[in-house]
Amino acid sequence: MSDTDLDTTARTILTDNDQGGYTIPTKGLYPYQWNWDSVFVALGFATFDQDRAWRELEMLFEGQWRDGMVPHILFRKDDPSYFPGPSVWGTDGGPIPSSGHSQPPVAATVVRDLVDADATGQSLDRAAALLPGLMAWHRWYLSYRDPKDQGVLAVIHPWESGRDNLPDWDDALRAVEVKDIEPYERKDTSHVDPAMRPHKEDYDRYLSIMAACRGVDWDPAEVARSCPFFVVDPGVTFVFLRANRDLLHLAEKLGKTEEASEIRGWIAKMEAGAKILWHDELKAHVALDQRSGKQTDGISSASFLAPYAGLTDGETLGALQAHFDRIAGKVRYLMPSYDPEHKSYEPLRYWRGPVWAMINYMIARGFAEAGDKARAERLRADTAALVRESGFAEYFSPETAEGAGGGSFSWTAAIWLTWASPSHVEQAA
Ligand code: DGY
Repeated sequence: MSDTDLDTTARTILTDNDQGGYTIPTKGLYPYQWNWDSVFVALGFATFDQDRAWRELEMLFEGQWRDGMVPHILFRKDDPSYFPGPSVWGTDGGPIPSSGHSQPPVAATVVRDLVDADATGQSLDRAAALLPGLMAWHRWYLSYRDPKDQGVLAVIHPWESGRDNLPDWDDALRAVEVKDIEPYERKDTSHVDPAMRPHKEDYDRYLSIMAACRGVDWDPAEVARSCPFFVVDPGVTFVFLRANRDLLHLAEKLGKTEEASEIRGWIAKMEAGAKILWHDELKAHVALDQRSGKQTDGISSASFLAPYAGLTDGETLGALQAHFDRIAGKVRYLMPSYDPEHKSYEPLRYWRGPVWAMINYMIARGFAEAGDKARAERLRADTAALVRESGFAEYFSPETAEGAGGGSFSWTAAIWLTWASPSHVEQAA
């Protein structure tokens, strides 16, 4: 298929997965609105329909909880093809049935991108309408995912990281006692090859964490205090630090001086906090289990998001460039979700090695902003090559380019349109 045909297919995937204002990640496997999927999808829509891009974000914020949280899944209608559905989550925090935790907060960054891309200035009103919701969500993160006020954010469930099956969660997940779960039937393995999905013992624990949080009615302070899983995630932390910089830009543009000064305080705290995640021997930021106090021992693709978060000091950038080149010598396509030299690496299992297009996009953006255009371009070229080889898969093998997980996947299509497609590069040039 030519690149122009791929552009057309990508637009068709977005419009086919459109449910009337919000987009599902893929049919069958993920039939609802997912938080960060939707936000990346907005970038894809923005390449051909600005209004529809804004609608995606507005519909996501329609599900915001009273406490400020924007949930990871909005269950706008029942779909028996997905498990665990709304009755298993048992939440009551917002106007739309939803899951009980959040997902990486990329929204402020994309709102800023949409505003910056609109030369007419008409988007500013829509951004202004979203600003209070964004502020409330960011405050929620700081209150309930950083209860010790350290400037780093934890996740209370592997799914809150958006990188569900990462080896970083293994030890913390093993420590979760399997209890209070009913017999259940998974649906994910009926849509895709079980060899690409998490194991049953992981699912037992995913459900046990949900049961524990249900037991405290998803009260956010109580969840932060007692949830059996509470792991600081460099991915969410870096996405959030970056999002705060973009939120600050928006607040300033909108003349919101109080909000702007509040956000400046958050940024200063997070810049200092990120140091907690630095692993001296590995020379990268890694996860930290707050319940056991242990750092993890592997480099994930989120370690490469430090420059995206604006952490571009010489030590961090130099160490990441060295890891980048080392990993490039081990796999054909960058960036594997986990270090290919780590014992837990698996090239085709969910988040244990495969490449995701939207992670490449964020890493490349950070590297380009830090002045490393060559490595940023390598990521773009690899992402384009993966799509040309295997189409719009959910994720790809870093070794063979085989596409895996769900097909006709919305965020892969969106990232192709907004960044990886050569037609986009030509337009932008
Ligand atoms: C799933 O069901 O695997 C989802 O990734 C949860 O977000």
